[in-house]
Amino acid sequence: MDLVPKRAAESATEMVQVVLPNDANPLGFILGGTVMHLIDIAGAIACHRHTRTLLVTAAVDGLEFLHPIKVGDLIILKSRVTCVFTTSLEVRVEVYSEETLTGRRQQTSRAFLTFVAIDRDGNRVKAAHLRRAERLRRKSQV
Ligand SMILES: CC(C)(COP(=O)(O)OP(=O)(O)OC[C@H]1O[C@@H](n2cnc3c(N)ncnc32)[C@H](O)[C@@H]1OP(=O)(O)O)[C@@H](O)C(=O)NCCC(=O)NCCS
Repeated sequence: MDLVPKRAAESATEMVQVVLPNDANPLGFILGGTVMHLIDIAGAIACHRHTRTLLVTAAVDGLEFLHPIKVGDLIILKSRVTCVFTTSLEVRVEVYSEETLTGRRQQTSRAFLTFVAIDRDGNRVKAAHLRRAERLRRKSQV
């Protein structure tokens, strides 16, 4: 794991895509589940950029849908790491809609997610660090 301190601005991420009919409910608004999917991805990208590790989503807190986003509008997701713990980190994701013809933008959702770093075997990175320390300790005794 890259342990060099990193500023949140370095991993901050912005995703933009157009809302297509396939993403929408019968009212012509984007599905909540699609927004949740995009929030997960936007949060994960910022956390991957921050840690350069494999990660799993552990929790999603405070998800709110403030306004609908209609087909043809842009959906913009801004994610930013807000706190780093031992093997986990918190990221804030804010979602905006933008009308393509007017540029009118408004915030439609926000959420805080927690991701946990894991290794390729699915173990938490903390455990890998302990094994590495033990390995190096044994080597130093040879
Ligand atoms: C997330 C997961 C790795 C945590 O495993 P665990 O054995 O409960 O982890 P631990 O109790 O050792 O905690 C490890 C870290 O995760 C954090 N954590 C665990 N559960 C959490 C939760 N529900 N919310 C926030 N943080 C959580 C702990 O605070 C700890 O953080 P720290 O090391 O920075 O202090 C495990 O529950 C898991 O694999 N869940 C499934 C993840 C998944 O499939 N996600 C969807 C697809 S990516």
